[in-house]
Amino acid sequence: MSDPQIVINEVGLRDGLQSQPRHLSLDEREAMARALLATGIRHFEVGSFVSPKAVPQMAGTGELIARLSPPPGVAFSALVPNMKGYELARAAGVETVAVVVSATETMNRKNINMGLDETLAVAEAVIRRGRDEGARVQAYLAVAWECPFEGPTPRSVVRDQAQALAGYGADEIVIADTIGAANPAAVRALMDDLVADHGAERLACHFHDTRAMGLANVYAAVESGVRRFDSSVGGLGGCPFAPGAKGNVATEDVVMLCEAMGFDTGVDMPALLAAVATVSELIGTPQGGRAYYWLSKNPGMNPGKNAA
Ligand code: COA
Ligand code: ZN
Repeated sequence: MSDPQIVINEVGLRDGLQSQPRHLSLDEREAMARALLATGIRHFEVGSFVSPKAVPQMAGTGELIARLSPPPGVAFSALVPNMKGYELARAAGVETVAVVVSATETMNRKNINMGLDETLAVAEAVIRRGRDEGARVQAYLAVAWECPFEGPTPRSVVRDQAQALAGYGADEIVIADTIGAANPAAVRALMDDLVADHGAERLACHFHDTRAMGLANVYAAVESGVRRFDSSVGGLGGCPFAPGAKGNVATEDVVMLCEAMGFDTGVDMPALLAAVATVSELIGTPQGGRAYYWLSKNPGMNPGKNAA
């Protein structure tokens, strides 16, 4: 029997780059994408279609997609904050769009200059239109455990919002710990509820490693049945509008954890380590999760399947 699978959605090209003080050029973003495409990862968030005044790092995402065009078996997604973003993404050939709803009023205002009700209405319009037009739509629920402005997010609020997004027809609901404030017990409690409501296949998790709990949170979500995770190469990342947000949990760490526990991620670890090195070079500062340092110093180590 083949190993159970975990799907990695690499978000380094979007979440990873959007808050970097050093803005990568299109050529550099392309080089990063090509290094990542060689790793066996099949799902990528390649960028966003947002105001270039709000996030200059993401300008030119359409051009990047045109240069890369997803190879067979590889899916590209892009974040869209509103209908204009949806239209731009679709015109660029994007088949999977990601809408973002933050669980709290203040976070929506800071992020996309809309209140919660308006954000939900815009998300509904984008999701319904995407469904009608044959797009795949991911709905992100940001600050799902804690908001940097309003504090802890009640579980019932997230549960209701996830229900609403599912009702609009979102293909996948991504529960995001935008500032890295969740802990494994809180992850387990929320994801158990959501898996009961929607089934694990329709859910994904997105963790940041601000307080060194990113990987533990991935494990907790796996225990709840979740099999789809966002992560970013080298642990790059952070949200420019959420104070305190650090990088996403590092892809190489998630792969090492999952493979060691007997899951198949389809990722070629040496190629992923090479991609981490490429990203460090492009950003100009060393990047890398714990797996990067450990496996780079112990190249003979089998990164996974050595426990059991
Ligand atoms: N893509 C590109 N440009 C867009 C856009 C989009 N999706 N949506 C709006 N714009 C442009 C408008 O055309 C307008 O341009 P102009 O100044 O040249 O006329 C400008 O942005 C402002 O538009 P407006 O509708 O008034 O929006 P706003 O100023 O209230 O900003 C957002 C709202 C959503 C566009 C902006 O906050 C944004 O892009 N946020 C992105 C946040 C993000 O990426 N967060 C991280 C991920 S969670
Ligand atoms: Zn994030």
